[in-house]
Amino acid sequence: MKPRTIKRLAWALASAGVSAGAALAQTPDLQPLPEPKFNADQAAMGKYLFFDPRLSGDAALSCASCHDPKKGWTDGQPLGKGYPASESFRNTPTILNATLKSRFHWDGRLDGSDAGTLVRDQITEAVYMNTDGRLMQERLKQVPEYNEMWKKFRKDDINGMRVFNVVGEFIKTVTSKNVPFDKFKKGDEGALSAAAKEGYALFKGKAGCVACHNGPVGSDGKLHNTGVPENPGVWSDPLRAITMLRHYSTHGMPNYMNARTDVGSFAITKDPKDVGKFNTPSIRDLKYTSPYMHNGVFATLDQVVDFYNKGGGQGSELKPLNLSDAEKKALVTFLESLSGDPVIIDPPKLPEYKVWAFGKN
Ligand code: HEC
Ligand code: HEC
Repeated sequence: MKPRTIKRLAWALASAGVSAGAALAQTPDLQPLPEPKFNADQAAMGKYLFFDPRLSGDAALSCASCHDPKKGWTDGQPLGKGYPASESFRNTPTILNATLKSRFHWDGRLDGSDAGTLVRDQITEAVYMNTDGRLMQERLKQVPEYNEMWKKFRKDDINGMRVFNVVGEFIKTVTSKNVPFDKFKKGDEGALSAAAKEGYALFKGKAGCVACHNGPVGSDGKLHNTGVPENPGVWSDPLRAITMLRHYSTHGMPNYMNARTDVGSFAITKDPKDVGKFNTPSIRDLKYTSPYMHNGVFATLDQVVDFYNKGGGQGSELKPLNLSDAEKKALVTFLESLSGDPVIIDPPKLPEYKVWAFGKN
């Protein structure tokens, strides 16, 4: 063989190898969770702030009021509560692993890699904590222990925008622990029961769940329409209905006053193809986070799997699955294996305000 032919052959083999590798990487699958990365000093302060109601306008609501560690870091309700005089029109998602998602919120409106901006919205939006960032900053500056904690990582005074990042660092620490599925993926065959393994095969095969639920948290980070039915509790409760319309108006949705349903991502993108689409949620720690879906209409995982078995609801992009009762059960057993030990952090004892001498701050 001429040297040039050998070279060409090697090139052909190498490029075949590369493309086979790329094809392999493209086969979607669930992956074990990565180790959380965060700034420890900021996360330590963020833990106090997460539980501190002084971050809210009326100093009565903290992040934990709605994301309660004892309720899987949710509020346990189908539809979330809100700041006084408002109620949420969506289910309160868990904090667990939330910062590993590529988009935040049911409609995927915020970038998952920017926890600080998410925290800013939760603190300042009228429906959640309804505070002015400067008011919050001044309150925190009146707490000597907070100034001490701040000095560990910054030379300046407590500063509103950076406070958002500090809470963001804390929520990065809230991740699942001791998850059977992760142990299995790392080589511990015994970590999953036979039923869970059968459920995993269905998840990747006949049931087709893996097409959307993949990666470390089980989300492709894309918008899909599964046709989840409306929760009548939204429109029948004036505070929820008004909150929904206000959300639409804030995002500049055309003709929002005519809307009677949760249009999902359309309110953000204004692309008619996105009506009824939602960001694929995490499917980790479902044991602790019922009820399910953007409006909490399903109380159990059996109901969720039944819903998928029928091909989802109106307008759905899904097809019926024809799963037997035993297959449905195996799928639920598999979903449960994606839950770790309960992650519970007790509220820390919050430091008090200090009244400073006149003229000193
Ligand atoms: C009054 C209740 C309430 C309070 C207080 C609240 N949240 Fe939320 N949170 C919600 C609701 C409801 C959503 C979902 C909103 C949506 O999807 O439209 C949400 C969404 C989130 C998400 C996105 C999760 C995901 O999977 O996309 C994170 C993270 C989060 N909140 C963190 C916080 C932090 C940190 C605080 C405190 C600074 C906080 N929240 C305060 C109710 C609340
Ligand atoms: C076409 C993409 C797609 C497929 C396929 C899919 N899902 Fe989903 N899944 C979603 C979306 C989007 C949501 C959120 C829908 C909503 O709230 O309106 C969701 C929600 C869920 C939830 C609720 C999570 C929570 O915290 O509330 C579970 C559980 C779930 N899916 C499991 C499954 C299972 C099991 C399968 C396979 C039978 C499956 N999914 C197939 C996109 C998909």
